[in-house]
Amino acid sequence: MRRAVCPGSFDPIHNGHVEIIARASSLFDEVIVAVSTNYAKKYKFEAADRLEMVQETIGGLRGVSVQPMGEGLLADFCRENGADAIVKGLRSTVDYQYEIPMAVMNRHLTGVETVFLAADNRYTHLSSSLLKEVQSLGGDVSDYLPRTVLKRLNHG
Ligand code: PNS
Repeated sequence: MRRAVCPGSFDPIHNGHVEIIARASSLFDEVIVAVSTNYAKKYKFEAADRLEMVQETIGGLRGVSVQPMGEGLLADFCRENGADAIVKGLRSTVDYQYEIPMAVMNRHLTGVETVFLAADNRYTHLSSSLLKEVQSLGGDVSDYLPRTVLKRLNHG
């Protein structure tokens, strides 16, 4: 049984995340999407709403579950949940440079490996912050966001 964790703050989840989670689910028997909260960070959505949006979006994917990760170490979360690997998407060399030190540190802490998936070309320009900015200024980002997220952004 191979179990992976896909971590993130998901503020909010977008189609680039969904694509990586779906591919992770085809590589692993189980995938836990871990919704993190860093209390020093300012989020647009409350932790409960970020979790709910992830649940509503990927609820139908076989073998995929969603859990809050809270404020602790990702490496500890993986150990506590019996995960063999962390799966992350890489959009560019900027992501690579940011991610490698964390991957090495996480392996040092608990032995958990990080598996990187090259982001699909359709989504390499996406980030939650860019989508929030464009949407808040009236731009159409409906191609990139799950329906539940669009609904909340339009009514929030
Ligand atoms: O979506 P984000 O905000 O880029 O997700 C970042 C996340 C949650 C993957 C990263 O901040 C993280 O791993 N946080 C948990 C705290 C931790 O373990 N820090 C040490 C990393 S080596």
